[in-house]
Amino acid sequence: MDRRHFILLGTAGSVAVLTGCGGSGGGVATPPTGTTPPPASPPVSNPPPATPVSPLTVGQPLTDLVRLANTSTTPNEFAATLVARRASKVMLPGTSTEFWTYNSMVPGPLIDVFEGDTVRIRMENQLSQETTVHWHGLPVPPAQDGNPMDPIASGASRTYEFTLPVGSAGTYWYHPHPHEFTAEQVFRGMAGLLIVRSRTDPVPTAIEEKLLVISDLRLAADGTIPANTTMDWQAGREGNYVLVNGQYQPVLTINPGQSQRWRILNATNARYLRLALTGHTMTLIGTDGGLLRSPVPGLDEILLAPAERVEVIVTASLPSPASAVLQSLPYDRGIGMMGASTTTISLLALNHSTAATTAVALPTALNSIADLGAPTKAKRLVFSWGTGMGGMSGDMMSFLIDGKSFDPARIDLTSRVNEVEQWTIDNRSSMDHPFHLHGTQFQVVSRTRSGVTATEPYLAWRDTVNVAAFETLVFNVVQHHLGKRMYHCHILEHESTGMMGVLDVVA
Ligand code: C2O
Ligand code: CU
Ligand code: CU
Repeated sequence: MDRRHFILLGTAGSVAVLTGCGGSGGGVATPPTGTTPPPASPPVSNPPPATPVSPLTVGQPLTDLVRLANTSTTPNEFAATLVARRASKVMLPGTSTEFWTYNSMVPGPLIDVFEGDTVRIRMENQLSQETTVHWHGLPVPPAQDGNPMDPIASGASRTYEFTLPVGSAGTYWYHPHPHEFTAEQVFRGMAGLLIVRSRTDPVPTAIEEKLLVISDLRLAADGTIPANTTMDWQAGREGNYVLVNGQYQPVLTINPGQSQRWRILNATNARYLRLALTGHTMTLIGTDGGLLRSPVPGLDEILLAPAERVEVIVTASLPSPASAVLQSLPYDRGIGMMGASTTTISLLALNHSTAATTAVALPTALNSIADLGAPTKAKRLVFSWGTGMGGMSGDMMSFLIDGKSFDPARIDLTSRVNEVEQWTIDNRSSMDHPFHLHGTQFQVVSRTRSGVTATEPYLAWRDTVNVAAFETLVFNVVQHHLGKRMYHCHILEHESTGMMGVLDVVA
């Protein structure tokens, strides 16, 4: 059996394996009560965690991402080299962990460019298997987008080149996208942030920017990164450590009253991040493809599905609490006993320094997002669980789009370039799936759950959106380049086992 494939545990067609078997939705770990006398010593400010103390180092100052240096001296041009290679780092004391990396870094180096720039990146593949670099969310031509049909063989290299149009400012990322190996290359460490900046960014520069790349790491006791289990291929892999910029529970210092602009990327294979900052609300200012029309203040939490990005403004409350924690709250994504995120986890501690800072006001108008307008074509995609026709699925159970498993030689959908289409994504499975479409940004119109339709409250540019279990989601979209585009679930185990299709954009 190909290692990508898996057999459904239990009886054939037993969807119940994937539905909630209890144990999900809540369940924040609490210390035992009633049997222990109160401690003799005064309580410490940080209560001991309910889970065993981690062997990974916690509490280090958050490191900034390492910027990929521009080797071009020509204005409006960015040139650099990325090398895919193995690199080792000590994570668990006394062991060494081998990652698969870009330029020996986890996460990969930050690519920081401007609208209008021409980007030329040479990719050298020193891995022992093929790879590609996919520019997730960027409006680049298909031939430059690292599709699985365009692999870079082990030992080979190629140069990607594209020009970033005005209006593309936003928070993107890059990761491998080879046929069948995407999930493994990403969980072994290959992913990096890519920011496209506008020369007329409306957010005041006095608001300091922080970049948070959230990734998931599973370590065995010997420090190695284990292969996926059958369960991982079904539910999507979650690790035992959630890292921010490659660090475990680091500390970010902020002045009381200070505002910071956080760009957050969910670079995990399958973990849903229900982000909340204790004692604080957050102001949403941007999504995947750039800023909103105006800030959305007062949010207690933000759900960030795998591959999604947000820009938020965080203002340190004054004078207390003296510290806060960025957490991911429990979220039931429909995997029940297969190992759902049922506990609250700490991602990052926020420490207030002593120097107070006056808050900087945000402009009320951030971006002029034009409504895409009335669609002239409609498409409908159905997510299901079953035995797919075509592709390599054979008689294996897996997640399907329109009853099919991915086949790189097949065209599943056709669109006309520059034509506004309305896509309906109908999730008829009991698990959430983050839907992603390459090459463009779309505008969500509505979401229907249990017969109740909610119209999207504001316009936002997205390339990835969660489609909850049994939800139907509608968005409008335009493709601006000719050629083949991928669309898929961004739980990378699902993508790599065939929950993906090919859209051909034609004249
Ligand atoms: Cu981020 Cu097709 O992927
Ligand atoms: Cu993508
Ligand atoms: Cu999925």
